[in-house]
Amino acid sequence: MIERIDHIGIAVPSIEEARKTWEALGLTVEAVEEVPQEKVRVAMIRCGDSRIELLEPTADDSPVAKFLASRGPGMHHLCLATSDVEGDDRRLRDEGYRVLRDEPTRGAGGHRVQFVHPKSTGGVLLELSEHGDG
Ligand code: CO
Repeated sequence: MIERIDHIGIAVPSIEEARKTWEALGLTVEAVEEVPQEKVRVAMIRCGDSRIELLEPTADDSPVAKFLASRGPGMHHLCLATSDVEGDDRRLRDEGYRVLRDEPTRGAGGHRVQFVHPKSTGGVLLELSEHGDG
């Protein structure tokens, strides 16, 4: 079941530069983490019950590097927290939605995630994230 908006992902060339905007608003970077399987560094910024996730590519062939090259910096994905990412994954597949992974995998923060292609969702890359005990 989808529970809430977990975070909004923003593609940036540099976390060190981009964080200044959010810190100027009084928000705090909670953690910066490298996610090697995605070839990104991510900075999580607390914003009330939700978060802003800055995504900086760590390699030229990173999906986020490709996004920056074609679209420039800006909103990259919307993440919804779910209590059952396997169930959502199955249901979306059954209904013909295009998911990006063969099955939910571990993403930033160790959460289990699946992505839904923007061509399936009216232009929004969706991340579904199950937090478990974390
Ligand atoms: Co995300």
